[in-house]
Amino acid sequence: MSATDNAFDLLVHKAFIIPSCEVYGGIGGFYDFGPLGTRVKQRMLSAWRDWCLRQEGFFEIDGSVVVRKEVLVASGHVKSFIDPMVKCGKCQEAFRADHLIEEQLKRNVEGTSVEGMNKILSKSKVFCPSCGTRLPAAIEEFHMMFPLSVGAGKKMIEGYLRPETAQTIFIDFPKIFKATREKLPLGIAQLGRSFRNEISPRQGLIRLREFEQLEIEIFLDPEKIDEVAGWEKLKGTAVTLRKVDGGDEIASVEALLGKRLIPNKYVAYWLAKEALFYEKVLGIPSDKFRFRFLGPDETPFYSKGNIDMEVSTDYGWKETIGNAYRTDHDLGTHAKSSGKDFAVTVDGKKFVPHVVEPSWGLQRMFYAALEHAYRPKDRDREWAWFALPAWLAPYDVNVFSLVKKDGLSEKAEEVNSTLSAAGLSTFCDHSGSIGKRYARADEMGVPCCVTIDYQTKEDGTVTVRDRDTMKQVRVGMAYLAAMIRGRAKPPLGIT
Ligand code: GAP
Repeated sequence: MSATDNAFDLLVHKAFIIPSCEVYGGIGGFYDFGPLGTRVKQRMLSAWRDWCLRQEGFFEIDGSVVVRKEVLVASGHVKSFIDPMVKCGKCQEAFRADHLIEEQLKRNVEGTSVEGMNKILSKSKVFCPSCGTRLPAAIEEFHMMFPLSVGAGKKMIEGYLRPETAQTIFIDFPKIFKATREKLPLGIAQLGRSFRNEISPRQGLIRLREFEQLEIEIFLDPEKIDEVAGWEKLKGTAVTLRKVDGGDEIASVEALLGKRLIPNKYVAYWLAKEALFYEKVLGIPSDKFRFRFLGPDETPFYSKGNIDMEVSTDYGWKETIGNAYRTDHDLGTHAKSSGKDFAVTVDGKKFVPHVVEPSWGLQRMFYAALEHAYRPKDRDREWAWFALPAWLAPYDVNVFSLVKKDGLSEKAEEVNSTLSAAGLSTFCDHSGSIGKRYARADEMGVPCCVTIDYQTKEDGTVTVRDRDTMKQVRVGMAYLAAMIRGRAKPPLGIT
């Protein structure tokens, strides 16, 4: 096994991501984005903002990650944001009991109570994945939020690191509604960090304790839930939907809505947006992701329908986006707990708006895109690489000089500066053989490389090597920037 046998290893090897505090032994469930990962992430976020937020009535906020306890008491997190935990009697390691039962006994225990799972552990044998000892039927409820105290003395306030970005949007809603001219539908987005003290963080970027969410709360008049701007354009988008009975149906979102397999037109519209982004922008083939209608055991009590996006990964099918029809639950509970008015008056009618929520996870989306772009080494290439869509790559282009002498490296620096001044993200590399430099660029997912050679000095042309085909063509300097920029343009009309 080399250091780069799979996508995750290559990501760590090239420092796209770095395990947090690694030199001090690491801290499970936390990863830093390195220079390449940060570039890819920024490009993903920029495309996402273009695709999801560039619409009439959509706004973005940037709230604090610390919230008062009262917010999370009202939202129900303090009472019920818990996971079942079981500790090994021998090695003392703690695990998610439901995950172990599912993995080892192949039993779905979604929605099963702690008592129910304890019964399963007493009847069937489940073993500690670390030391192999049989686990006791002694599951405890483990609270998943990070508590903290703010300030000191009499003015000390109890709070938490937020477990989702959504709550700030709900509590800020009255102010934002007023500031944005009191119109519905109103989409309020927040892109930011969330924190969950997962019992056993694992599977790379899939289950983290600190991660980023891209959440949109769409506030609407429930009587106008079928009036969705942009519906005509997207209604024909075909998606795969896994139904509650486990069967798959592939059809347009309009047809699925007609069969009542999607809770409402807003959710249908967002499923189409998500599918198009995953396929066209992230480059994940459409047969590698699906939507899944959650069964009654998995659906939160306040929701009138949840549909998850799931992606096929090295770790199995994983949820990357949650869509929920949250009704007026959140505004209603915050109104009750805070004593403030969360109702709106639109066209002379006073009511509490309903909410549809698409909630995307950044790290899972990032990992899914990179895993599907991963190409193992083969006969043509002795190195693993990323076939990332050009618009997501950490650099648009790398510039090399064939050799360092005879003024070629100076010329390469000059070309690099010209491309950079033309708005392209470039990197000039002089070290190692030209083959090694191509390999390094492939590992980073750079879509093309420009090499300066002796002919450049004579006729001003350069060699452009394409990452995917490894073919090389000669291009005049006058066309170079436009050619590279043309490839780096994202689809779907995103700029
Ligand atoms: N406001 C709704 C909400 O937070 P969620 O399904 O708990 O819903 C939404 O989270 C998305 O956030 C998930 O689909 C996933 O992509 C991401 N996410 C949730 N927990 C995560 C974790 N522990 N590590 C990484 N991503 C996570």
